Amino acid sequence: MCGIVGILGVTSATPRILESLKRLEYRGYDSAGIATLEGGTLDRRRAPGKLENLARKLRDNPLTGNSGIGHTRWATHGEPTEANAHPHMTDRIAIVHNGIIENFRTLKKELLDTGVTFEGETDTEVVAHLLTRYLKEGLAPHDAFAKTLSRLEGAFALCVLISGEDNLMFGAREGSPLVVGLGEGENYLGSDAMALASLSNRLIYLEEGDWAELTRESVQVFDARGNKVERKVAISQVASTMVDKGNHRHFMQKEIFEQPTVVAQALGRYLDPNAGKVKLPDMPFELATVSKVTLVACGTSYYAALVARYWIEKLARVPVEVDIASEFRYRDPVYASDGLCIFISQSGETADTLAALRHAKEAGQRVMVLVNVMGSTMAREADVVLPIHAGPEIGVASTKAFTCQLSVLAAFSINLAAAKGMIDEAQEDAYVAELESAPKLMAQVLHHDEKLQEIARSIAHARDVLFVGRGIHFPIAMEGALKLKEISYIHAEGYAAGELKHGPIALIDEHVPVIGIAPNDDLIDKTVSNLQEIMARQGKVVLMSDDAADEAEHMFAYFKMPTAGALVTPIIYAIPVQLLAYYAAVEKGTDVDQPRNLAKSVTVE
Ligand code: M6R
Repeated sequence: MCGIVGILGVTSATPRILESLKRLEYRGYDSAGIATLEGGTLDRRRAPGKLENLARKLRDNPLTGNSGIGHTRWATHGEPTEANAHPHMTDRIAIVHNGIIENFRTLKKELLDTGVTFEGETDTEVVAHLLTRYLKEGLAPHDAFAKTLSRLEGAFALCVLISGEDNLMFGAREGSPLVVGLGEGENYLGSDAMALASLSNRLIYLEEGDWAELTRESVQVFDARGNKVERKVAISQVASTMVDKGNHRHFMQKEIFEQPTVVAQALGRYLDPNAGKVKLPDMPFELATVSKVTLVACGTSYYAALVARYWIEKLARVPVEVDIASEFRYRDPVYASDGLCIFISQSGETADTLAALRHAKEAGQRVMVLVNVMGSTMAREADVVLPIHAGPEIGVASTKAFTCQLSVLAAFSINLAAAKGMIDEAQEDAYVAELESAPKLMAQVLHHDEKLQEIARSIAHARDVLFVGRGIHFPIAMEGALKLKEISYIHAEGYAAGELKHGPIALIDEHVPVIGIAPNDDLIDKTVSNLQEIMARQGKVVLMSDDAADEAEHMFAYFKMPTAGALVTPIIYAIPVQLLAYYAAVEKGTDVDQPRNLAKSVTVE
């Protein structure tokens, strides 16, 4: 999603803004731009496509000035053209925006009626013209900005410079994140700690409805009513050095191969193998009293929630409901008294998940989050935070965050089962030992990646691919399909293996690869039977299993997995489906780390 950076500085702003925009690339974008203010005059450069296009423009036609704002745009209203790229400018102001102005049509009509002309189709331009109108009516910048904000509905993070005001920058946050960075004789605004990492580690996270007035020497924060408020300064842990790919060709590849290390790190925070126990942070409620668990998330995080349902119900015998965040609050969910709602989000900023979290909180539910970004909005609003410790995930396709989410959810399930008295100390010890084995087994799978490369080559030009699994591996089938879709653009679906004959089997012919996820558990025979049904219809079956080698002889391909228990298999089977997608995308030559149309941090509903 869109990324914002603003610098009110004492040295040339453009190269510093470009560096911050580079840090924001991971969020996904399709155009970019920068505006600077020098000697009271605003100027800008914008370009569709990658940042390199903007950098080229800036080399040909540099922008001077010590203050400026920059933006990476993920198109919502209007195509990713130069005219729609931010910053938007009038003769008085330059503005960048992340989010959606929901009442922009009404405001646009009002402005058109007063003779304003619009350059592009974005909702943001109405904010630019509204603010300009109030300034031209003679309002002071502070009052004009406040009045503009009072007219806006929807979700937004804004950053504004005003011509003739060399020592002034405004920012506002409503629904989309915005952070103030504090410098020495300089101050900054950014979408997140990552954007500001090379500028400052002293941050003020604006709260909903907050807006900020910055000079080089001061920062004042106001709430939605315009009252001056104090917000605490947090120290960011995000490293100022740019995360790099190491020896890998893509961030996604690096992140896949990092998994044994980061999962071990995550488990190290939650397991005490000597005591044979799970250690969770202190909670403001007793886990033993939890009557129902509701898990809510989007995309890959949703699939982690689906896996966790099996663990929680099996180990703790607590009923679990799982929902897609964008559906959750609109179906008017029935909350249980003593219910625990768990929201899972790598970024901690996903708009739908955040809205669902607030819905649950308002309903008096206990709210826990699993996030990878500690300063994120969800982390700040939850009663309990379980960090997943995956480290920065740059590839848009989530990989290591998924396996870290699963690892933390597995630890949580053991802990809940113990708190509920459903497992005794010896069982808890055994489960902890089982989970501890995950990193080693993950490393074994990664060791055989060349076999997956070979299989990926043979499916890379298929039009459709199906993934099937049963029980706890059904969500892994869906995750495999999502990975393949998002980076290789091959149509893929994940099905419960037993469900195929109720419809999807009609799709099977000799051109359709079917990936079967079938660890040797109590469902393997049934899954293999379903795969036989597919082979009988000429489907090209690729089996991933630690057993069934005999049946595999007749299949299109077989990928041998290590044997593991049910707390670990979903974690290790995530790897071959990730690698399959990765190598298929490489074979097709797609943009693996920033696939078309996708954003890393989805901050609009
Ligand atoms: O940051 P979140 O975990 O809340 O993001 C949720 C989804 O947008 C995310 O998992 C998405 O599906 C990924 N691109 C999957 O690879």
